[in-house]
Amino acid sequence: MLIRHATLPDGRRDIDVLVQDGHIAAIGQRLAAPEGTPEVDARGQLLAPSFVDAHFHMDSTLSYGLPRVNASGTLLEGIALWGELKPQLTQDALVERALQYCDWAVAKGLLAIRSHVDVCDDRLLAVEALLQVKQQVAPYLDVQLVAFPQDGLLRSPNALANLKRALDKGVEVVGGIPHFERTMADGAESIRILCELAAERGLRVDMHCDESDDPMSRHIETLTFHTQRLGLHGRVTGSHLTSMHSMDNYYVSKLIPLMAEAQVHVVANPLINITLQGRHDTYPRRRGMTRVPELMTAGLNVAFGQDCVMDPWYPLGSADMLEVAQMGLHVAQMTSPAQIAACFDAVTVNAAKVLGIEHHGLKPGADANLVLLQAGSIVEAVRLRANRLVVWRCGKRVAGSAPVVSQLELPGRPAHVDWTLAR
Ligand code: FE2
Repeated sequence: MLIRHATLPDGRRDIDVLVQDGHIAAIGQRLAAPEGTPEVDARGQLLAPSFVDAHFHMDSTLSYGLPRVNASGTLLEGIALWGELKPQLTQDALVERALQYCDWAVAKGLLAIRSHVDVCDDRLLAVEALLQVKQQVAPYLDVQLVAFPQDGLLRSPNALANLKRALDKGVEVVGGIPHFERTMADGAESIRILCELAAERGLRVDMHCDESDDPMSRHIETLTFHTQRLGLHGRVTGSHLTSMHSMDNYYVSKLIPLMAEAQVHVVANPLINITLQGRHDTYPRRRGMTRVPELMTAGLNVAFGQDCVMDPWYPLGSADMLEVAQMGLHVAQMTSPAQIAACFDAVTVNAAKVLGIEHHGLKPGADANLVLLQAGSIVEAVRLRANRLVVWRCGKRVAGSAPVVSQLELPGRPAHVDWTLAR
C-alpha cells in the first residue's frame, strides 16, 4: 500500500508512506511503488502512529454501577467497591466486557494497551480472562498484562503467591501498590521484593506508586533506588506518582535527577488523577497530577494512560487517547505548540517506550500500525479529538469512519479540501 499526500506529526506535508509486508518500507516525497500497489490519498490529513495506552485496567472496565456506584468518588472507596464486586465476577462476563472495550479501542486507533490485572483473588479469574482476551485480540490489538496486587502485596495474604502464579501463566510485567501497604516500611519492602522478582525473571516492572496527595509518600524514591541497584534501567515504570504534585520543591529537585539516572518511565493518568486526587481538600484544591513538564524537561520518558473507563473509580471514558492527551495538557498547563506535541507523544511514541514496543512509530522498519486523523496538525487533532478516518494494523485496514461534516465547518479549515477518501 502507498499512502500519498499525508501530513506527519512533525509537520511535514505532502509525504508518502510505503507499506510492504505489514511494515513501513519508506517515508518521503513522491515515492515510487511497484506496479499494482494500492494507493490511498490522505489528502493532507494527519497520518500518525497508532495510539498506545500505557496504563489501563481491563478487568474492571465497563463494570460501572456493579454492584453500586462510588458515592465518595475516592480511590479508597473505589478499591472497596472493586472488593465487593470481585466475588461476583465470572470469567465470561470479564471476557465480554474486555472484548467490548477492545472494539472501542481499535475504532479509536488504539492498538496497544498495557493493562493491570488484579491477582488478589485466589481463583485468578481475571488473569485467566484477560489472558484469553489477549490471545483473542492479538490479530488487531496488543495487550500487555501487569500482575497487580490490588489489595497490597504484604497486606493481602496470598498476593505474592498469586502474583507468581500469574507470571507463570504468562502475565509479563510485575506490578505493585506500595502506598496501599499498611506502613511506609511495608511499602518499601514490597518494592524490594517485587523488583528482585522482576530482576530474577528478566521482567519489566510497573507499579502504582504514591497514588495519594500525601507529600511524604515517597515510594518513587525507593523504586528508583532498587531500579538502580538491580540494573533495571529502562525497564521500570512509576505509575501515577500523584504525591509528587504535593511534595516539597527542594526534595523534588533531588528526586527527579535520580529518576532520570535510573531511566524510570513515568505514567500520569490525567482523567483519573484530576478526579480522584484532592478529594480531602477544601480550597484551594490540588490537581493531583504528577509534575509532567518538569519530568519531561529532565529527560524522563513520560506517557499518559487512560487508567479507567466506566468502572468503580470513574464513570466516564471512551478509549479515546486524544481525550487523555487533551486533559493532560490542560491539567499540566502545557499549551504551547511544542508542549501539545509532547502530550500527543505521551499517548503514542512515549507510551510505546513504556511497553517496550520497539517496532512502533513512523519510521522505516516499524509495523504499519497507523491512524489517519481528520486534522491538519497535531494541535488540531487534539483540539477536535479528531475523527479516525482509517486505522491500519500492520498495513491492514481494521477500522475507519466517514468524515465528520461538522468539523468541516469549523473556522481554520481549508475550504477547498475534498474529504472523500479512497478506500
Ligand atoms: Fe491504575
